Amino acid sequence: MEEKSRVLIIGATGRLGYHLVNFSLQDGHPTFILIRDSSFTDPNKVQKLNSLLTAGAILLKGSLEDEKSLREAAKQVDVVICAIPSKQALDQKILIQVIKESGRIKKFIPSEFGVDPDKIQISGLDHQFYSRKAEVRRLVEAEGIPYTYICCNLLMSYLLPWLAQPGLKVPPKDKVTIFGDGNAKAVFVKDIDVAAFTISAIDDPRTLNKTLYLRPPGNVYSMNELVAIWENKIAKKLEKIYVPEEEVLKKIKETPYPDNMEMIFIYSAFVKGDHTYFNIDPSGVDGTQLYPHLKYTTVSEHLDTLL
Ligand SMILES: NC(=O)c1ccc[n+]([C@@H]2O[C@H](COP(=O)([O-])OP(=O)(O)OC[C@H]3O[C@@H](n4cnc5c(N)ncnc54)[C@H](OP(=O)(O)O)[C@@H]3O)[C@@H](O)[C@H]2O)c1
Repeated sequence: MEEKSRVLIIGATGRLGYHLVNFSLQDGHPTFILIRDSSFTDPNKVQKLNSLLTAGAILLKGSLEDEKSLREAAKQVDVVICAIPSKQALDQKILIQVIKESGRIKKFIPSEFGVDPDKIQISGLDHQFYSRKAEVRRLVEAEGIPYTYICCNLLMSYLLPWLAQPGLKVPPKDKVTIFGDGNAKAVFVKDIDVAAFTISAIDDPRTLNKTLYLRPPGNVYSMNELVAIWENKIAKKLEKIYVPEEEVLKKIKETPYPDNMEMIFIYSAFVKGDHTYFNIDPSGVDGTQLYPHLKYTTVSEHLDTLL
């Protein structure tokens, strides 16, 4: 049987990292987790850690700032996956140097898990959210480190549960605001499914030095389509208020950071169509085509849970 890569996951106590560790273990990869001392003081994180250790994860103590811990960790693995928060993306710089110097890592998956930072059409508006991720890409490429970038677009737990209505936390019942003309298509993928696709990619030569895009059928919808699906489920027509692009931009500029980030993500996804405006070129691969056996939650199934 083909030997499974040994995997290091940084961010194992996080939202996405926790699922990545579980799928890596389920897939038979010896899986190491790099954990900061501070994680052991948070009861929720301790609970997650205990569950991961019981499932077979191998604990390494350290952090992205502790170069020695990174060097020790890199000696034991073939693949490194990082799932730290986006605003800390540049904290991966020391890790990238360590991977380069180790010369033995056959794949690095940097912390991205969002919209393609090289394709985004909102530069200047996003408070470096995407430019930091693009900078990490350039460092990885300059060092000649083998990589796969994971572009899952939006996680299903964000925007979708309130149909992208700022100020709401549940889907609207009477009226709905539609930004732009409502025709740009956005992509939503459940956290746990992103983890399953990511782990499938680690030993797959088709994903080497490629961007893995997730656009699963049943998960790619415009705002107009999402509203229609929701109306169908609640058997009621909603009053629709259309907000033109200029007004969306005005609102983004008037709202202080970071409160304007939700509107920026809405603008990117539903007005600019940043998830889907481009075809996947040879620098990328389509995750649902590569792994048709993977089951995933569709948007409609997720909306059913909100009824
Ligand atoms: N597309 C989307 O809709 C979407 C939504 C959310 C997130 N994401 C992406 O998913 C990725 C992971 O985000 P997340 O929300 O899962 O993160 P998260 O829940 O905030 O977890 C972050 C993890 O990183 C660890 N960490 C932070 N700084 C570290 C350091 N210096 N050294 C070692 N470990 C460190 C944390 O460990 P401690 O336990 O020590 O704090 C924690 O385990 C990011 O790239 C983010 O952009 C995408």
